[in-house]
Amino acid sequence: MTGRVVTLRPVAEGDRARLLTWRNSPQVALYMYSDHEIGQAEHDRWFDGIGGRLDRLYWVIELDGEPVGLTSLTEIDRAQGRATIARYLGDLAVRGLGVGAAAEFKLLDHAFSRLGLRKVWSEVLASNEVAWGLHVANGFQREALLRAHVVKGGLPQDVIGLGLLAQDWVERRPEARERLIGKGYDPAGLDAPLPC
Ligand SMILES: CC(C)(COP(=O)(O)OP(=O)(O)OC[C@H]1O[C@@H](n2cnc3c(N)ncnc32)[C@H](O)[C@@H]1OP(=O)(O)O)[C@@H](O)C(=O)NCCC(=O)NCCS
Repeated sequence: MTGRVVTLRPVAEGDRARLLTWRNSPQVALYMYSDHEIGQAEHDRWFDGIGGRLDRLYWVIELDGEPVGLTSLTEIDRAQGRATIARYLGDLAVRGLGVGAAAEFKLLDHAFSRLGLRKVWSEVLASNEVAWGLHVANGFQREALLRAHVVKGGLPQDVIGLGLLAQDWVERRPEARERLIGKGYDPAGLDAPLPC
């Protein structure tokens, strides 16, 4: 392959410690709904609960073979054809390189093509302009303003809800792909399906 390659692989036992470190790091925790430091027992309950579930799926984001973040489809409702997408990059050194956009690109392909979903939804703190800007660049439309929806740092914060329909992705995918190729991502790597 020529260029950067982002892959999504299923979470494995060896990720247990790094996911807790990433999730508790200030530059991730700042953007999550819950504010508190997550302890080992709470983390283990979450980690042990993610395997074997059909309604929530988690992948480690790798850049050129190195783990750098986590992405997920949760609240997967097969009857409704809908799921919620989220991600974070735990490795701060790779932020701003397009890794978040490439991970979203690959997960949207998976959600619409492999899982056959109809709609992908995301909720983002209104103050997190990078995260919702990334969604908008991929064709998500702002559908909701959830006022004072979560309390962060002791203050109520607004949340934006964004949605992308399968047909929106068909339309926006070529442009998103070109943008990532322009940032140095390998075209075959972008198009490669996720490992089963
Ligand atoms: C949100 C996040 C995943 C984005 O990943 P990333 O790889 O750093 O973002 P990208 O490099 O793909 O950039 C996406 C867009 O945002 C812009 N951007 C990225 N970082 C930026 C920054 N610090 N300031 C301004 N713009 C920025 C990029 O220029 C790019 O825009 P473009 O397509 O017009 O070039 C990452 O910042 C992160 O992990 N944040 C903390 C967790 C979080 O907020 N998760 C989302 C909540 S669900």
